[in-house]
Amino acid sequence: MVKKNKNGILNPILGGEDFEFDTNLRPKALDEYIGQKRLKENLKIFIEAAKQRKEPLEHLLFYGPPGLGKTTMANIIACEMGVPIRTSSGPLIERAGDLAAILTNLDERSVLFIDEIHRLPRIVEEVLYPAMEDCRLDIVIGKGPSARTITINLPKFTLVGATTRAGLLTGPLRDRFGITFRMDYYPPEELALIIKRSAKILHIQIDEGGVGEIAGRSRGTPRVANRLLKRVRDYAQVKNVKVISKDVVDYSLSMLEIDYKGLDVLDRKVMQVVIDQYGGGPVGIESIAVAVGEESDTVEDVCEPFLIQLGFMIRTPQGRKATAAAYKHFGKEYRGQADQGKLL
Ligand code: ADE
Repeated sequence: MVKKNKNGILNPILGGEDFEFDTNLRPKALDEYIGQKRLKENLKIFIEAAKQRKEPLEHLLFYGPPGLGKTTMANIIACEMGVPIRTSSGPLIERAGDLAAILTNLDERSVLFIDEIHRLPRIVEEVLYPAMEDCRLDIVIGKGPSARTITINLPKFTLVGATTRAGLLTGPLRDRFGITFRMDYYPPEELALIIKRSAKILHIQIDEGGVGEIAGRSRGTPRVANRLLKRVRDYAQVKNVKVISKDVVDYSLSMLEIDYKGLDVLDRKVMQVVIDQYGGGPVGIESIAVAVGEESDTVEDVCEPFLIQLGFMIRTPQGRKATAAAYKHFGKEYRGQADQGKLL
């Protein structure tokens, strides 16, 4: 789903403005896809086996932070299987009838991709169970004692679900996926390869230093890397720079208030709230979101996983806490656990 990208260029949630850019740069085949080695190796086997048996691929669930390639992978799967793909998203499918319309229009063996699948309404989810299990659609007609169920046979299909929050998926839905994969953040070397590939497609001249600098500030996320490349390209074009170097990246990204670790204004605000207002924590995500004036979903899906990955934040049953590394990064004195938990 295309969401408004209101939280700046480091927000890995796909924004309308970069939709076209993103689709141009998306790899279309498994061999073009950089990173997620284990996932690719497994997928190759599953796809090959399903093709040999002339069956659809098993239902697949991808989970992990936004911008890591879940949608891209769903499109690649359809391409590799040689079948059409139909794309929707949890919040867009409001009623059971909406899902029934989608399911009855699928082609044999096609891929149905549902993004943000954790946001499917419960009543819709229940329609999905028999569809996933037996390619069956049970429709209840009428109400009360005269109500009856009619069953429609559906074409065989593969559901590819994507979620940033595997924990919010109900047990019965999770159990119906034959294959589940976690998408991980990309190491800088892989991001560098992605940036080089994108630069080539977009005819951008950039040297190794420039590539490395963008990779280091992209919070492990290809979508962010591509977006930063686009911003740096704008800067280089206006300043008449022919080849983008480390210095050019440094300068243009500093203007956008992105620091050398890839933290943006919102990440810094979050850490400052935990450190300065809550004495290092523990503090609940809702309190942090209110203090920074942002939706808690954004703080939880976008900022938090990255801050945890950096080792700046930890989750405890009592709430989020800042680590010694975070204090150091922000130039603050860390006084251990002594003052943690007190609202200063
Ligand atoms: N563009 C965005 N993500 C990519 C990936 N994983 N491989 C190649 N190009 C990409």
